[in-house]
Amino acid sequence: MNAKQAAGYRAAELVKEGMTVGLGTGSTAYYAIEKIGEMVASGLRIRAIATSKASEELAAKYNIPLVPAAEVDRLDIAIDGADEVDPDLSLIKGGGGALLREKLVAVQSDRFVVIADSNKKVAHLGQFKLPIEIVPFCYEWTLRLLETRYNVPIEMRMNGNELYVTDNGNYIADASFGKIDIPKGLSDELKATTGVVEHGLFVGIAHTVIVGYEDGRTEVIA
Ligand code: A5P
Repeated sequence: MNAKQAAGYRAAELVKEGMTVGLGTGSTAYYAIEKIGEMVASGLRIRAIATSKASEELAAKYNIPLVPAAEVDRLDIAIDGADEVDPDLSLIKGGGGALLREKLVAVQSDRFVVIADSNKKVAHLGQFKLPIEIVPFCYEWTLRLLETRYNVPIEMRMNGNELYVTDNGNYIADASFGKIDIPKGLSDELKATTGVVEHGLFVGIAHTVIVGYEDGRTEVIA
């Protein structure tokens, strides 16, 4: 068992009969979905909402019933990975590009459980490039505004020679802050910027973090 698998499997144990579950995206969330799939195959009855097309396909593969958002008010739990986790349980997410759907699902959940291998634990957020989802219309203006305001390197995410397009039809600008001193301040400022749809700072959203280690141990921070 590797670290991601240990964290993913441990989080799946929190899923109980009758729950509505948010399914995250990425290589750690993969293991949670796999385990939940096994539990469904053994008779567990739940319904789920996926945070990306990739996770939707994975859920379908494991016969995890997906439900339209219109039929859901709150989710009981959402389980998702992260790119960085700080001591306050603030996160950087979106390395896989699914940040907008991930945040929508996370804030709608009574319990948001983050699963991460121990390399994701950091003293300060910002070494990992912060993904900022921006609208394609006049995206050059938004990029220039962000570069001017923050004076840090910002790259448009690419998919080969083309600009990377999210599941929502937007672009992603990855910003190298290095160290983010006040995550909440930056989060609010980005959120208030015209042209920015969402960003990968998750501040005050995670309730629990499950850290996985290479020897299969897990640490629950709540
Ligand atoms: C997807 O957009 C991301 O937010 C992922 O949850 C995050 O990048 C963690 O991915 P891994 O579990 O693959 O490291």
